[in-house]
Amino acid sequence: MPAVVIVGAQWGDEGKGKATDLLGSRVDYVVKFNGGNNAGHTVVIGDQKYALHLLPSGILSPGCTPVIGNGVVVDLGVLFEEIDGLEARGIDTSKLVVSANAHVIADYNRTFDKVTERFLGSRKIGTTGRGIGPTYADKMNRLGVRVQDLFDEKILRAKVEGALELKNQILTKVYNRRSVEVDEVVEELLSYVDRLRPMVADTSLLLGDALDADQTVLLEAGQATLLDVDHGTYPFVTSSSATAGGACTGSGIPPTRLTRVIGIVKAYATRVGEGPFPTELFDADGERLRDNGGEFGTTTGRPRRCGWYDAPIARYAARINGLTDFVLTKLDVLTGFERIPVCVAYEVDGERVDEMPMTQTGFHHATPIYEYFEGWSEDISGARTIDDLPVNAQRYVTAIEKMSGARISAIGVGPGRDETIVVHDLL
Ligand code: GDP
Ligand code: IMO
Ligand code: MG
Repeated sequence: MPAVVIVGAQWGDEGKGKATDLLGSRVDYVVKFNGGNNAGHTVVIGDQKYALHLLPSGILSPGCTPVIGNGVVVDLGVLFEEIDGLEARGIDTSKLVVSANAHVIADYNRTFDKVTERFLGSRKIGTTGRGIGPTYADKMNRLGVRVQDLFDEKILRAKVEGALELKNQILTKVYNRRSVEVDEVVEELLSYVDRLRPMVADTSLLLGDALDADQTVLLEAGQATLLDVDHGTYPFVTSSSATAGGACTGSGIPPTRLTRVIGIVKAYATRVGEGPFPTELFDADGERLRDNGGEFGTTTGRPRRCGWYDAPIARYAARINGLTDFVLTKLDVLTGFERIPVCVAYEVDGERVDEMPMTQTGFHHATPIYEYFEGWSEDISGARTIDDLPVNAQRYVTAIEKMSGARISAIGVGPGRDETIVVHDLL
Protein backbone atom coordinates (compact mmCIF):
# COMPACT_ATOMS: atom_id res chain seq x y z
CA MET A 1 0.00 0.00 0.00
CA PRO A 2 2.61 2.59 -0.86
CA ALA A 3 1.33 6.17 -0.59
CA VAL A 4 4.12 8.48 -1.65
CA VAL A 5 4.00 12.26 -1.38
CA ILE A 6 5.91 14.70 -3.57
CA VAL A 7 6.26 18.23 -2.17
CA GLY A 8 8.17 21.35 -3.11
CA ALA A 9 10.94 22.13 -0.61
CA GLN A 10 11.42 25.80 -1.54
CA TRP A 11 9.13 28.42 -3.13
CA GLY A 12 7.71 26.31 -5.96
CA ASP A 13 8.84 25.42 -9.48
CA GLU A 14 11.43 22.96 -8.18
CA GLY A 15 10.51 20.38 -10.82
CA LYS A 16 7.66 18.51 -9.13
CA GLY A 17 6.06 17.82 -12.52
CA LYS A 18 9.16 16.10 -13.86
CA ALA A 19 9.58 14.03 -10.67
CA THR A 20 5.93 12.93 -10.79
CA ASP A 21 6.25 12.00 -14.44
CA LEU A 22 9.38 10.02 -13.70
CA LEU A 23 7.35 7.75 -11.39
CA GLY A 24 4.09 7.92 -13.36
CA SER A 25 4.51 4.65 -15.22
CA ARG A 26 4.98 2.74 -11.93
CA VAL A 27 2.04 4.09 -9.94
CA ASP A 28 -1.70 3.45 -10.12
CA TYR A 29 -2.98 6.87 -9.04
CA VAL A 30 -1.55 10.40 -9.11
CA VAL A 31 -3.48 12.76 -6.85
CA LYS A 32 -3.38 16.54 -6.82
CA PHE A 33 -4.32 17.50 -3.28
CA ASN A 34 -3.94 21.27 -2.96
CA GLY A 35 -3.99 24.50 -4.93
CA GLY A 36 -5.51 24.93 -8.35
CA ASN A 37 -4.45 26.44 -11.62
CA ASN A 38 -1.97 28.70 -9.87
CA ALA A 39 0.42 25.76 -10.35
CA GLY A 40 2.46 25.28 -13.48
CA HIS A 41 4.15 21.91 -13.82
CA THR A 42 6.25 21.39 -16.92
CA VAL A 43 6.88 17.89 -18.18
CA VAL A 44 9.19 17.17 -21.08
CA ILE A 45 8.73 13.82 -22.82
CA GLY A 46 11.01 13.40 -25.82
CA ASP A 47 10.49 16.44 -28.03
CA GLN A 48 7.10 17.21 -26.47
CA LYS A 49 6.66 19.75 -23.70
CA TYR A 50 3.50 19.88 -21.58
CA ALA A 51 2.51 22.60 -19.11
CA LEU A 52 -0.04 21.33 -16.59
CA HIS A 53 -1.88 23.71 -14.30
CA LEU A 54 -4.94 22.07 -12.82
CA LEU A 55 -4.46 18.46 -13.89
CA PRO A 56 -2.06 16.19 -12.00
CA SER A 57 1.08 15.40 -14.02
CA GLY A 58 0.15 11.71 -13.86
CA ILE A 59 -2.37 12.38 -16.63
CA LEU A 60 0.55 11.95 -19.04
CA SER A 61 1.21 8.38 -17.86
CA PRO A 62 -1.20 6.06 -19.71
CA GLY A 63 -1.56 3.38 -17.01
CA CYS A 64 -2.29 5.73 -14.19
CA THR A 65 -5.53 7.26 -12.91
CA PRO A 66 -5.29 11.01 -12.29
CA VAL A 67 -7.30 12.33 -9.35
CA ILE A 68 -8.24 15.87 -8.36
CA GLY A 69 -8.62 15.63 -4.59
CA ASN A 70 -10.97 17.40 -2.19
CA GLY A 71 -8.25 19.89 -1.20
CA VAL A 72 -8.05 21.37 -4.69
CA VAL A 73 -9.90 24.45 -5.91
CA VAL A 74 -11.22 23.82 -9.41
CA ASP A 75 -11.74 26.37 -12.15
CA LEU A 76 -14.09 24.36 -14.37
CA GLY A 77 -13.42 26.44 -17.48
CA VAL A 78 -9.72 25.78 -17.11
CA LEU A 79 -10.33 22.10 -16.37
CA PHE A 80 -12.07 21.50 -19.69
CA GLU A 81 -9.69 23.75 -21.61
CA GLU A 82 -6.76 21.75 -20.28
CA ILE A 83 -8.47 18.43 -21.02
CA ASP A 84 -9.26 19.55 -24.58
CA GLY A 85 -5.69 20.76 -25.09
CA LEU A 86 -4.27 17.40 -24.05
CA GLU A 87 -6.82 15.38 -26.03
CA ALA A 88 -5.90 17.41 -29.13
CA ARG A 89 -2.32 16.24 -28.60
CA GLY A 90 -3.36 12.61 -28.35
CA ILE A 91 -3.34 12.26 -24.54
CA ASP A 92 -6.14 10.12 -23.13
CA THR A 93 -7.77 11.98 -20.24
CA SER A 94 -10.79 9.71 -19.84
CA LYS A 95 -9.63 8.24 -16.52
CA LEU A 96 -9.67 11.57 -14.69
CA VAL A 97 -11.58 11.52 -11.39
CA VAL A 98 -12.67 14.67 -9.53
CA SER A 99 -13.63 14.80 -5.85
CA ALA A 100 -17.24 15.74 -5.11
CA ASN A 101 -15.89 17.76 -2.17
CA ALA A 102 -13.43 19.90 -4.14
CA HIS A 103 -14.33 23.58 -4.16
CA VAL A 104 -15.14 25.47 -7.33
CA ILE A 105 -13.53 28.77 -8.32
CA ALA A 106 -16.36 31.07 -9.36
CA ASP A 107 -15.83 34.10 -11.57
CA TYR A 108 -16.35 36.41 -8.59
CA ASN A 109 -13.41 34.73 -6.80
CA ARG A 110 -11.13 35.69 -9.69
CA THR A 111 -12.52 39.22 -9.59
CA PHE A 112 -11.82 39.48 -5.86
CA ASP A 113 -8.26 38.16 -6.32
CA LYS A 114 -7.52 40.95 -8.78
CA VAL A 115 -9.27 43.84 -7.02
CA THR A 116 -7.76 42.89 -3.65
CA GLU A 117 -4.24 42.84 -5.07
CA ARG A 118 -4.81 46.24 -6.67
CA PHE A 119 -6.23 47.56 -3.42
CA LEU A 120 -3.21 46.29 -1.45
CA GLY A 121 -0.84 48.31 -3.66
CA SER A 122 2.71 48.01 -2.34
CA ARG A 123 1.53 45.42 0.21
CA LYS A 124 0.35 43.05 -2.54
CA ILE A 125 1.23 39.33 -2.49
CA GLY A 126 1.88 39.03 -6.22
CA THR A 127 -0.71 36.29 -6.68
CA THR A 128 -1.29 34.47 -9.93
CA GLY A 129 -4.70 36.17 -10.18
CA ARG A 130 -6.50 32.85 -10.60
CA GLY A 131 -8.93 33.35 -7.69
CA ILE A 132 -7.14 30.87 -5.43
CA GLY A 133 -7.05 32.89 -2.18
CA PRO A 134 -10.68 34.11 -2.32
CA THR A 135 -11.93 30.57 -3.08
CA TYR A 136 -10.10 29.10 -0.07
CA ALA A 137 -11.36 32.05 2.01
CA ASP A 138 -14.92 31.14 1.00
CA LYS A 139 -14.22 27.52 1.94
CA MET A 140 -13.01 28.51 5.41
CA ASN A 141 -15.88 30.99 5.77
CA ARG A 142 -18.29 28.17 4.90
CA LEU A 143 -19.49 30.13 1.90
CA GLY A 144 -17.87 27.95 -0.74
CA VAL A 145 -19.41 26.15 -3.69
CA ARG A 146 -18.38 22.53 -4.04
CA VAL A 147 -18.37 20.29 -7.11
CA GLN A 148 -21.31 18.29 -5.71
CA ASP A 149 -23.41 21.46 -5.40
CA LEU A 150 -23.59 21.65 -9.18
CA PHE A 151 -25.80 18.55 -9.19
CA ASP A 152 -28.59 20.25 -7.25
CA GLU A 153 -29.62 23.51 -8.88
CA LYS A 154 -31.65 24.67 -5.87
CA ILE A 155 -28.74 24.21 -3.50
CA LEU A 156 -26.30 25.75 -5.98
CA ARG A 157 -28.45 28.87 -6.31
CA ALA A 158 -28.82 29.18 -2.53
CA LYS A 159 -25.06 28.87 -2.05
CA VAL A 160 -24.22 31.41 -4.75
CA GLU A 161 -26.81 33.79 -3.28
CA GLY A 162 -25.26 33.35 0.15
CA ALA A 163 -21.76 33.95 -1.16
CA LEU A 164 -22.76 37.06 -3.11
CA GLU A 165 -24.79 38.76 -0.41
CA LEU A 166 -21.81 40.35 1.31
CA LYS A 167 -19.51 40.27 -1.71
CA ASN A 168 -21.81 42.47 -3.76
CA GLN A 169 -21.88 45.04 -0.95
CA ILE A 170 -18.09 45.08 -0.93
CA LEU A 171 -17.78 45.16 -4.71
CA THR A 172 -20.12 48.12 -5.11
CA LYS A 173 -19.38 50.10 -1.94
CA VAL A 174 -15.66 49.50 -1.40
CA TYR A 175 -14.27 48.73 -4.83
CA ASN A 176 -16.74 50.80 -6.84
CA ARG A 177 -17.43 47.84 -9.11
CA ARG A 178 -20.64 46.53 -10.57
CA SER A 179 -22.42 43.84 -8.56
CA VAL A 180 -22.45 40.22 -9.75
CA GLU A 181 -25.72 38.62 -10.86
CA VAL A 182 -26.59 35.31 -9.18
CA ASP A 183 -28.20 34.05 -12.40
CA GLU A 184 -25.08 34.62 -14.44
CA VAL A 185 -22.91 32.68 -12.02
CA VAL A 186 -25.37 29.80 -11.69
CA GLU A 187 -25.82 29.59 -15.44
CA GLU A 188 -22.08 29.44 -16.08
CA LEU A 189 -21.52 26.74 -13.47
CA LEU A 190 -24.47 24.67 -14.70
CA SER A 191 -23.10 24.76 -18.23
CA TYR A 192 -20.34 22.36 -17.08
CA VAL A 193 -22.56 19.83 -15.32
CA ASP A 194 -23.11 17.28 -18.10
CA ARG A 195 -19.43 17.01 -18.89
CA LEU A 196 -18.40 16.99 -15.25
CA ARG A 197 -20.85 14.43 -13.86
CA PRO A 198 -19.15 11.22 -15.07
CA MET A 199 -15.81 12.30 -13.61
CA VAL A 200 -17.03 12.95 -10.09
CA ALA A 201 -16.53 10.41 -7.30
CA ASP A 202 -15.89 9.93 -3.60
CA THR A 203 -12.14 10.08 -4.14
CA SER A 204 -11.18 9.38 -0.54
CA LEU A 205 -13.08 6.08 -0.72
CA LEU A 206 -11.53 5.32 -4.11
CA LEU A 207 -8.00 5.93 -2.80
CA GLY A 208 -8.60 4.05 0.45
CA ASP A 209 -9.79 1.02 -1.53
CA ALA A 210 -6.79 1.33 -3.85
CA LEU A 211 -4.38 1.26 -0.90
CA ASP A 212 -6.23 -1.71 0.59
CA ALA A 213 -5.75 -3.49 -2.72
CA ASP A 214 -1.99 -2.82 -2.52
CA GLN A 215 -2.01 -0.29 -5.32
CA THR A 216 0.43 2.63 -5.38
CA VAL A 217 -0.78 6.19 -4.87
CA LEU A 218 1.39 9.20 -5.59
CA LEU A 219 0.29 12.52 -4.13
CA GLU A 220 1.61 15.50 -6.11
CA ALA A 221 1.71 18.87 -4.35
CA GLY A 222 1.27 22.20 -6.01
CA GLN A 223 3.29 25.14 -4.67
CA ALA A 224 5.76 24.38 -1.89
CA THR A 225 6.73 24.39 1.78
CA LEU A 226 7.63 28.08 1.93
CA LEU A 227 4.34 28.94 0.20
CA ASP A 228 2.25 26.82 2.61
CA VAL A 229 -0.39 28.89 4.40
CA ASP A 230 0.77 27.65 7.83
CA HIS A 231 4.46 26.92 7.38
CA GLY A 232 5.46 29.34 4.64
CA THR A 233 6.59 32.95 4.69
CA TYR A 234 3.14 34.21 5.68
CA PRO A 235 1.50 36.41 4.42
CA PHE A 236 3.55 35.93 1.22
CA VAL A 237 2.16 32.45 0.66
CA THR A 238 -0.58 30.71 -1.25
CA SER A 239 -3.82 29.86 0.57
CA SER A 240 -3.54 26.08 0.78
CA SER A 241 -1.62 23.41 2.69
CA ALA A 242 1.18 22.53 0.31
CA THR A 243 3.13 20.39 2.79
CA ALA A 244 2.87 16.67 3.57
CA GLY A 245 0.08 17.22 6.11
CA GLY A 246 -1.97 18.79 3.32
CA ALA A 247 -1.57 15.58 1.33
CA CYS A 248 -3.71 13.87 3.97
CA THR A 249 -6.36 16.51 4.46
CA GLY A 250 -6.49 17.25 0.74
CA SER A 251 -6.99 13.64 -0.32
CA GLY A 252 -8.65 11.86 2.61
CA ILE A 253 -5.69 9.49 2.96
CA PRO A 254 -4.78 9.28 6.65
CA PRO A 255 -1.23 10.05 7.91
CA THR A 256 -0.74 6.44 9.07
CA ARG A 257 -0.87 5.29 5.46
CA LEU A 258 1.85 7.55 4.03
CA THR A 259 4.96 5.53 3.32
CA ARG A 260 7.36 8.08 1.87
CA VAL A 261 7.66 11.86 1.47
CA ILE A 262 9.91 13.17 -1.30
CA GLY A 263 11.00 16.81 -1.31
CA ILE A 264 11.89 18.36 -4.63
CA VAL A 265 14.64 20.94 -4.26
CA LYS A 266 16.50 22.99 -6.84
CA ALA A 267 20.31 23.17 -6.73
CA TYR A 268 19.78 26.93 -6.30
CA ALA A 269 16.62 28.86 -5.34
CA THR A 270 13.86 30.80 -7.07
CA ARG A 271 10.71 32.62 -6.05
CA VAL A 272 7.82 34.22 -7.98
CA GLY A 273 5.75 37.03 -6.49
CA GLU A 274 6.50 39.10 -3.40
CA GLY A 275 8.01 38.12 -0.05
CA PRO A 276 11.35 37.58 1.68
CA PHE A 277 14.10 35.64 -0.09
CA PRO A 278 17.43 35.89 1.78
CA THR A 279 19.73 34.50 -0.94
CA GLU A 280 18.17 36.51 -3.79
CA LEU A 281 20.65 37.88 -6.32
CA PHE A 282 20.32 41.24 -8.02
CA ASP A 283 23.49 40.93 -10.09
CA ALA A 284 24.83 39.21 -13.20
CA ASP A 285 24.87 35.82 -11.40
CA GLY A 286 21.12 36.11 -10.83
CA GLU A 287 20.57 36.91 -14.51
CA ARG A 288 22.74 33.97 -15.44
CA LEU A 289 20.75 31.56 -13.28
CA ARG A 290 17.53 32.90 -14.81
CA ASP A 291 18.84 32.50 -18.36
CA ASN A 292 20.52 29.12 -17.87
CA GLY A 293 17.57 27.73 -15.93
CA GLY A 294 14.81 29.25 -18.10
CA GLU A 295 13.39 30.74 -14.93
CA PHE A 296 10.19 32.29 -16.21
CA GLY A 297 6.84 31.31 -14.69
CA THR A 298 4.95 28.45 -16.37
CA THR A 299 1.64 30.03 -15.33
CA THR A 300 2.12 33.80 -15.57
CA GLY A 301 5.35 34.08 -17.59
CA ARG A 302 6.80 36.35 -14.88
CA PRO A 303 10.61 36.26 -14.54
CA ARG A 304 11.43 34.25 -11.42
CA ARG A 305 13.62 35.82 -8.75
CA CYS A 306 16.83 33.77 -8.50
CA GLY A 307 19.34 33.13 -5.72
CA TRP A 308 21.75 30.60 -4.22
CA TYR A 309 20.86 27.35 -2.42
CA ASP A 310 19.56 27.99 1.08
CA ALA A 311 20.34 25.04 3.37
CA PRO A 312 18.37 26.24 6.43
CA ILE A 313 15.26 26.31 4.23
CA ALA A 314 15.92 22.80 2.93
CA ARG A 315 16.38 21.58 6.52
CA TYR A 316 13.15 23.30 7.49
CA ALA A 317 11.33 21.57 4.61
CA ALA A 318 12.84 18.22 5.67
CA ARG A 319 11.51 18.73 9.19
CA ILE A 320 8.05 20.11 8.38
CA ASN A 321 7.34 17.43 5.79
CA GLY A 322 9.22 14.54 7.41
CA LEU A 323 11.13 14.11 4.16
CA THR A 324 12.56 10.68 3.52
CA ASP A 325 14.27 11.72 0.28
CA PHE A 326 15.23 14.74 -1.76
CA VAL A 327 15.24 14.97 -5.52
CA LEU A 328 17.84 17.61 -6.34
CA THR A 329 16.93 19.27 -9.63
CA LYS A 330 18.63 21.53 -12.18
CA LEU A 331 22.19 20.77 -11.12
CA ASP A 332 23.11 21.33 -14.80
CA VAL A 333 22.10 25.00 -14.48
CA LEU A 334 25.08 25.60 -12.19
CA THR A 335 27.55 24.42 -14.83
CA GLY A 336 29.98 27.20 -15.73
CA PHE A 337 29.96 29.08 -12.42
CA GLU A 338 33.51 29.30 -11.12
CA ARG A 339 32.48 29.40 -7.49
CA ILE A 340 29.10 28.44 -6.05
CA PRO A 341 27.96 29.96 -2.75
CA VAL A 342 25.62 28.00 -0.47
CA CYS A 343 23.78 29.66 2.40
CA VAL A 344 24.59 27.59 5.51
CA ALA A 345 23.01 29.86 8.16
CA TYR A 346 21.76 33.43 8.55
CA GLU A 347 22.88 36.48 10.38
CA VAL A 348 19.86 38.06 12.04
CA ASP A 349 20.41 41.40 13.78
CA GLY A 350 24.05 40.59 14.47
CA GLU A 351 23.54 36.98 15.59
CA ARG A 352 24.11 33.70 13.78
CA VAL A 353 20.90 31.71 13.31
CA ASP A 354 21.12 28.16 11.99
CA GLU A 355 17.42 27.49 11.49
CA MET A 356 14.51 29.30 9.89
CA PRO A 357 13.97 32.35 12.18
CA MET A 358 10.88 32.12 14.38
CA THR A 359 9.35 35.47 13.34
CA GLN A 360 8.52 37.18 10.07
CA THR A 361 10.66 40.14 11.16
CA GLY A 362 13.58 37.79 11.83
CA PHE A 363 13.31 36.29 8.35
CA HIS A 364 13.06 39.72 6.73
CA HIS A 365 16.27 40.69 8.54
CA ALA A 366 18.11 37.45 7.69
CA THR A 367 21.24 37.85 5.61
CA PRO A 368 22.91 34.68 4.35
CA ILE A 369 26.17 33.31 5.71
CA TYR A 370 27.80 31.61 2.73
CA GLU A 371 30.17 28.72 2.26
CA TYR A 372 31.81 28.58 -1.16
CA PHE A 373 32.26 25.59 -3.43
CA GLU A 374 34.43 25.19 -6.51
CA GLY A 375 32.38 25.01 -9.72
CA TRP A 376 32.75 22.86 -12.83
CA SER A 377 32.57 23.62 -16.52
CA GLU A 378 31.89 20.22 -18.12
CA ASP A 379 28.45 19.53 -19.64
CA ILE A 380 26.76 17.17 -17.14
CA SER A 381 23.50 16.53 -18.99
CA GLY A 382 24.70 13.06 -20.06
CA ALA A 383 25.58 11.95 -16.51
CA ARG A 384 23.54 8.94 -15.35
CA THR A 385 25.47 7.99 -12.23
CA ILE A 386 27.11 10.07 -9.53
CA ASP A 387 30.51 8.93 -10.80
CA ASP A 388 29.75 10.50 -14.20
CA LEU A 389 29.68 13.93 -12.54
CA PRO A 390 32.82 16.10 -12.34
CA VAL A 391 34.38 15.79 -8.92
CA ASN A 392 33.41 19.36 -7.94
CA ALA A 393 29.76 18.65 -8.77
CA GLN A 394 29.95 15.50 -6.64
CA ARG A 395 31.39 17.56 -3.77
CA TYR A 396 28.62 20.14 -4.13
CA VAL A 397 25.92 17.44 -3.99
CA THR A 398 27.51 15.67 -1.03
CA ALA A 399 27.91 18.95 0.87
CA ILE A 400 24.33 20.11 0.42
CA GLU A 401 23.03 16.64 1.24
CA LYS A 402 24.87 16.80 4.56
CA MET A 403 23.35 20.22 5.34
CA SER A 404 19.79 19.54 4.21
CA GLY A 405 18.36 16.87 6.49
CA ALA A 406 17.50 14.00 4.13
CA ARG A 407 19.34 11.89 1.59
CA ILE A 408 19.44 12.95 -2.05
CA SER A 409 17.93 10.07 -3.98
CA ALA A 410 17.87 11.53 -7.48
CA ILE A 411 19.60 14.36 -9.31
CA GLY A 412 18.23 16.24 -12.32
CA VAL A 413 20.77 17.12 -14.99
CA GLY A 414 18.32 18.33 -17.65
CA PRO A 415 14.57 18.76 -18.23
CA GLY A 416 14.09 15.43 -20.06
CA ARG A 417 12.67 12.39 -18.28
CA ASP A 418 15.89 10.42 -18.73
CA GLU A 419 18.16 13.32 -17.77
CA THR A 420 18.22 12.06 -14.22
CA ILE A 421 20.70 10.33 -11.96
CA VAL A 422 18.87 7.85 -9.75
CA VAL A 423 20.83 7.16 -6.57
CA HIS A 424 18.11 5.34 -4.60
CA ASP A 425 14.83 4.05 -6.01
CA LEU A 426 12.01 6.49 -5.19
CA LEU A 427 9.22 3.94 -4.81
P1 GDP B 1 7.09 22.50 -10.79
O1 GDP B 1 6.11 23.61 -10.67
O2 GDP B 1 7.74 22.15 -9.48
O3 GDP B 1 6.57 21.28 -11.49
O4 GDP B 1 8.29 23.07 -11.69
P2 GDP B 1 8.11 23.90 -13.07
O5 GDP B 1 7.72 22.94 -14.13
O6 GDP B 1 7.28 25.10 -12.87
O7 GDP B 1 9.58 24.43 -13.27
C1 GDP B 1 10.68 23.56 -13.39
C2 GDP B 1 11.33 23.76 -14.78
O8 GDP B 1 12.60 23.15 -14.80
C3 GDP B 1 10.55 23.11 -15.91
O9 GDP B 1 10.71 23.90 -17.07
C4 GDP B 1 11.23 21.76 -16.08
O10 GDP B 1 11.14 21.25 -17.41
C5 GDP B 1 12.64 22.12 -15.76
N1 GDP B 1 13.44 21.06 -15.12
C6 GDP B 1 13.07 20.13 -14.22
N2 GDP B 1 14.14 19.42 -13.80
C7 GDP B 1 15.21 19.92 -14.47
C8 GDP B 1 16.62 19.63 -14.45
O11 GDP B 1 17.10 18.77 -13.71
N3 GDP B 1 17.41 20.40 -15.26
C9 GDP B 1 16.92 21.38 -16.07
N4 GDP B 1 17.76 22.09 -16.83
N5 GDP B 1 15.60 21.67 -16.11
C10 GDP B 1 14.78 20.95 -15.32
P1 IMO C 1 3.99 25.38 -8.67
O1 IMO C 1 3.04 24.26 -8.31
C1 IMO C 1 5.63 29.28 -7.69
C2 IMO C 1 2.95 32.08 -5.62
C3 IMO C 1 2.50 33.32 -6.38
C4 IMO C 1 2.35 34.28 -5.20
C5 IMO C 1 1.79 33.38 -4.10
C6 IMO C 1 0.28 33.45 -3.94
O2 IMO C 1 4.18 25.54 -10.13
O3 IMO C 1 5.26 25.25 -7.91
P2 IMO C 1 -1.74 32.50 -5.38
O4 IMO C 1 -2.17 32.78 -6.79
O5 IMO C 1 -1.47 31.06 -5.12
O6 IMO C 1 -2.67 33.09 -4.37
O7 IMO C 1 -0.35 33.30 -5.20
O8 IMO C 1 2.18 32.07 -4.43
N1 IMO C 1 2.69 30.80 -6.32
C7 IMO C 1 3.63 30.05 -6.91
N2 IMO C 1 4.95 30.27 -7.08
N3 IMO C 1 5.09 28.13 -8.11
C8 IMO C 1 3.77 27.88 -7.92
O9 IMO C 1 3.21 26.70 -8.20
C9 IMO C 1 2.96 28.88 -7.33
N4 IMO C 1 1.65 28.98 -7.03
C10 IMO C 1 1.51 30.15 -6.40
O10 IMO C 1 3.48 33.76 -7.28
O11 IMO C 1 3.61 34.74 -4.78
MG1 MG D 1 5.70 25.50 -11.48
